[in-house]
Amino acid sequence: MKRKVQVGIIGAGPAGLLLAHLLHRAGIEALVLESRTRDQIEGTIRAGVLEQWTVDLLISLGLGERLKREAHFHDGITLRFNRGSHHLDFPELTNGKRVTVYAQHEVLKDLIAALPADMIQFGVRDVSLHRLGSESPLIRTAEDEIECDFIAGCDGFHGPSRQAIPKNVLKTYETVYPFGWLGILTEAPPSHHELIYARHERGFSLLSTRSPTVQRLYVQCNPKDDLKDWSDDRIWSELHQRLETDEDWKLTEGKIFQKNIVSMRSFVCETMRWGRLFLAGDAAHIVPPTGAKGLNLAAADVVVLAKALTEWYRDHGTDLLDLYAPTCLARIWKGERFSWYMTTMLHKNESEEDFVQRIHMADLDYLVGSHAAQQALAENYVGLPMAV
Ligand code: APR
Ligand code: PHB
Repeated sequence: MKRKVQVGIIGAGPAGLLLAHLLHRAGIEALVLESRTRDQIEGTIRAGVLEQWTVDLLISLGLGERLKREAHFHDGITLRFNRGSHHLDFPELTNGKRVTVYAQHEVLKDLIAALPADMIQFGVRDVSLHRLGSESPLIRTAEDEIECDFIAGCDGFHGPSRQAIPKNVLKTYETVYPFGWLGILTEAPPSHHELIYARHERGFSLLSTRSPTVQRLYVQCNPKDDLKDWSDDRIWSELHQRLETDEDWKLTEGKIFQKNIVSMRSFVCETMRWGRLFLAGDAAHIVPPTGAKGLNLAAADVVVLAKALTEWYRDHGTDLLDLYAPTCLARIWKGERFSWYMTTMLHKNESEEDFVQRIHMADLDYLVGSHAAQQALAENYVGLPMAV
């Protein structure tokens, strides 16, 4: 079937769905095309930390009711190394800002439930992009031909949008880490009231939460590891050792009901626009999960894009569209820097020289002794101010 829409959005992740909301609110007609099913999207476990402005945005869009009821609001994080714990008090360090722990798939459920059903097509096959340099770019799917004014490529790292940009104009930057995270969900009460990021000789670990009865924990592993080699006993043994402390603290075990391994990379595609195609979120940039910037960076992109498209539909002004990539990249690179800093400081990297490992220990030592360094970390963790 042939049809027309003002903005065609490829991908129903945080970027695509939030953009759909922002455009809908501005009276711009958008259609989201998603290859997975709604159940798959709402059931995929990802990270779960929202920056303060992301929370404020969701609430201002009327999407914060369940979040306000069910999210966990934390006053900081704990860094653990050399068997000691160091609390960073975010409200004190950032003038009142906090951290919100609310799983990404819960955000997606809220975004999907609040969009008119005919704005999203799930299970769409064979998406391809055409005529990107023209004024009427086209999205083809197995069943439809959709003519648009603009296409938003919100289809993640592996989607077709970035691939549709000619290789000779693509400018990308990448570093791949020689470690990954094994994540578990366990039926247990929280072992601590806030997140604990731990550096240990055996590798990094992270204690996070999902609800009063479900906890999320991670251990650094080899990204090529097979889940079969990670028995429940081995996971708990590693977590106990890596989170060990001289304080009066105990890790509470529970039944593990979900395990997954994620590899880690930092990636930036500076070509965020090609003609009438605009890339947003993971389609243009990836961060390792340490510091949980992924969703927040995706949200920041689409706030900038929605504003630029709103300007275009108001008076055909192109200034903000032209500024889209540079505006986003200024924030993206800071998110990349912060995620890289947290990742390299907290992980055991066998391929690094001993000298560099010592520098990371000095980084941690400096951090816990310096209010200024803590402020810098906290300011980035709760989210840098939005430029728009
Ligand atoms: N056709 C249609 N949809 C596609 C296609 C395709 N060919 N390829 C991928 N998609 C969909 C995926 O199924 C996914 O639902 O695009 C969506 C992209 O969503 P995300 O990968 O979540 O990316 P994004 O919205 O940019 O959000 C970034 O989400 O994935 C996390 O860690 C990431 O926190 C970060 C944030
Ligand atoms: C999570 O809860 O999944 C989580 C929290 C903090 C991170 C990454 C992931 O830095």
